Amino acid sequence: MAEHHGVTTAPAIEPDTEPKSPFLRACRGLPVDRTPVWLLRQAGRYQPEYRALREKHSLLELIRIPELAAEVTLLPVDAFGLDAAIVFADILPPLVGMGLELDFVQGDGPRIGNPIETTRDVDLLGTPPAEETMAGTLGAIALVRRELESRDVPVIGFAGAPFTLASYAIEGGTSRDFSRTKAFMLSEPAAWKRLLGKLVTVQAHYLLAQARAGAQALQVFDSWAGRALGREDYLRYVAPHNRELFARVAAADVPVVNFSLGVSAYLGEAAACGGDVVGLDWTLPLDEAWERVGFDTPVQGNLDPVSLLVPWRELQVRIDDVLDRADGRPGHIFNVGHGLVPQTPVGNVRRLVEHVRERTSR
Ligand code: CP3
Repeated sequence: MAEHHGVTTAPAIEPDTEPKSPFLRACRGLPVDRTPVWLLRQAGRYQPEYRALREKHSLLELIRIPELAAEVTLLPVDAFGLDAAIVFADILPPLVGMGLELDFVQGDGPRIGNPIETTRDVDLLGTPPAEETMAGTLGAIALVRRELESRDVPVIGFAGAPFTLASYAIEGGTSRDFSRTKAFMLSEPAAWKRLLGKLVTVQAHYLLAQARAGAQALQVFDSWAGRALGREDYLRYVAPHNRELFARVAAADVPVVNFSLGVSAYLGEAAACGGDVVGLDWTLPLDEAWERVGFDTPVQGNLDPVSLLVPWRELQVRIDDVLDRADGRPGHIFNVGHGLVPQTPVGNVRRLVEHVRERTSR
């Protein structure tokens, strides 16, 4: 950037345009006065205030009504002083606009009423723009941004990656072995390409719309490709589509987190699909994973969320282990390596945030 046309020019990012928020600074690998911390599924059932709202509203209602989604988004930010807010939404509602029927069944997770079975089902899927189908989430982002602007807490928007969404669309729900998805992928490679192409179109549009609505960072969740596929299948059937998604989303001009779970066997290849920050799951020690993606790439992670279920003394050891392995390098965002579980004690979340702040303040 600093060497356009062979002459040294001013850096593209002037110091006075550098963000103040530690999260946004870490996303760019800039030095911070404390390690930023936010937590996957930071809003959810472990919070009594969330459970109270869920008694009155379904999950899809909480997501669809901007005022409610904004209220839920702010619950953990207000309670714990987190360094980023992630809009309260889910990766699956964009499938509804494409023609799939979505429901969340108590205790059983998401259900697609009309899963994809044939190549014709793929061709019937629509790709309407997010402004038409996801107005509730876009409205929630705008509300949260307005609320948090003065506190310098950025809003993160998010979407699912194409394989993960395809797996729900084909399996009809969460899967143990992804057998239907993989059988479809291998036996109908042309329709698989069309399906992932449509998903990339919809997700890229949705992510760009979230940035326009006010999201200051974006995260792409590829929750299941790494669980389902070996490296060669990943490179052949998933990576080209993820690369296309990240390439399109780069136009948003906000940092993008690439969070691909379960990809330890091909972390470098998954990270190389794109994004500015690599989200790390909890399966590798942070320093080893970071070395594999390169210390010049910012990372987010990677405490095992189940660590929050154990007594503070043991939890603290495990938080300190992540911080020790990050070793004060710029570009570390403290997070869990997958979503908080519903049994998480609220007190442990509070102490975790306080502890990361105390230990890393410089
Ligand atoms: O605070 C936040 O982190 C934002 C909220 C958020 C939700 N879903 C709300 C939610 C985020 C980031 C997601 C992403 C999501 N959703 C992913 C990717 C991340 C991951 O965990 O791998 C996936 C795979 C989904 C799909 C999904 N949504 C499943 C499998 C389930 C059921 C399992 C469960 O935990 O109950 C959901 C439901 C869901 N999405 C809940 C929440 C808070 C549970 C809520 C409830 O019933 O009240």
